[in-house]
Amino acid sequence: MSWKSHIVRKSLSGIEPYRPGKPIAEVQRELGLQSAIRLCSNENPWSLPERVVEAVRLASGETCRYPDPASYRLKRAIAMKWGRSPSEVIVGGGTEGILYSLFQSIIDEGDEVAYAVPTYPLYGLAAAAAGAKRIEVETGETESKTGLDRLIEACGPRTKALVVCNPNNPTGSILTRTDLTALANSLNGRETLLILDEAYAEYVEDPKYASGIDLFDQLGNIVMLRTFSKIYGLAALRVGYAIAPKPVVETYLKVRKVFEVNSIAQNAALAALSETAYIQEVREKTLAERERLSSALREMGIRVHPTQTNFIILDFQDAKTVYENLLLEGIIVRLGDDLGYPGHLRVTVGLPEENDRFLQSLGKVLKRLAGR
Ligand SMILES: Cc1ncc(COP(=O)(O)O)c(C=O)c1O
Repeated sequence: MSWKSHIVRKSLSGIEPYRPGKPIAEVQRELGLQSAIRLCSNENPWSLPERVVEAVRLASGETCRYPDPASYRLKRAIAMKWGRSPSEVIVGGGTEGILYSLFQSIIDEGDEVAYAVPTYPLYGLAAAAAGAKRIEVETGETESKTGLDRLIEACGPRTKALVVCNPNNPTGSILTRTDLTALANSLNGRETLLILDEAYAEYVEDPKYASGIDLFDQLGNIVMLRTFSKIYGLAALRVGYAIAPKPVVETYLKVRKVFEVNSIAQNAALAALSETAYIQEVREKTLAERERLSSALREMGIRVHPTQTNFIILDFQDAKTVYENLLLEGIIVRLGDDLGYPGHLRVTVGLPEENDRFLQSLGKVLKRLAGR
């Protein structure tokens, strides 16, 4: 065997790198298109409030300095928002950055990380990077009782973390307050951390939904992850946070990248946090557009799954062909296959004009495919 196959970590041999949604410039370059739109990464496409833009501008004048490694002001503002102590707050490079360091700080050899599938692929990748054994539990499309039971049963004495994506990407479904409480209670007294990724929480309408923060005081072994990449509109700046038990935060600080969150991101996130009217407005506009998009798609005879997020899931028998044909039209959506969800396309709710262009192009593509 050559040194090349010896040098790589064996536990990563079966792992595929994350396949992100395609950038606009790449699609235009590869397909020779004049314009393309991105409805593949569940970003907030509405323009930012003036105060956040100003915060970015101000911090960009200080780029010769290292950022505040403690994210002091942002951490305090987050703690205040949730009524917690700053010592229970982690600020990191998005959910992604936090997950990688979090697993590195809690996983010992032989430990497991469990999660239901299909879900956000980063959990498996971050777990593998920390050397954890991955326990993937098929719970089905809706979080049925049996799915929940399977998830609870999958957690053994070596399961250090159970990750729940709530609302879930890519299905758009939620775990209700009742089910979440049952799940959390089943882990109470065990050495398993319940990690709740609530990246899409601000879009939820269902009154049966509850954030994990409600269980934090009662149970303790909970980590709530939030991001500035979605409704706050700061995906490019890479900043997110977690509310976590103090001992977890302390261990996390030993392995995290010290200057991971740059000054522009810290300043923008701080300004964005107090933009409650903007958040409410984006939520309303997104939900209205989602409804308009969903009705138009149903009228076209397409099955649209119920969702509590800023993306919709569509059923297509041959999703790959539809995906590729949409690309040729300059429409970038997400292929379910890349998210462990074959037979589906995931489409982000965009600006009204983007949604119109998507509907028009999809109609054209389906007509073309029907005529083949
Ligand atoms: C479930 C979930 N969590 C988190 C994120 C955001 O990650 P980040 O905060 O690293 O941008 C996404 C983005 O697609 C997501 O789908």
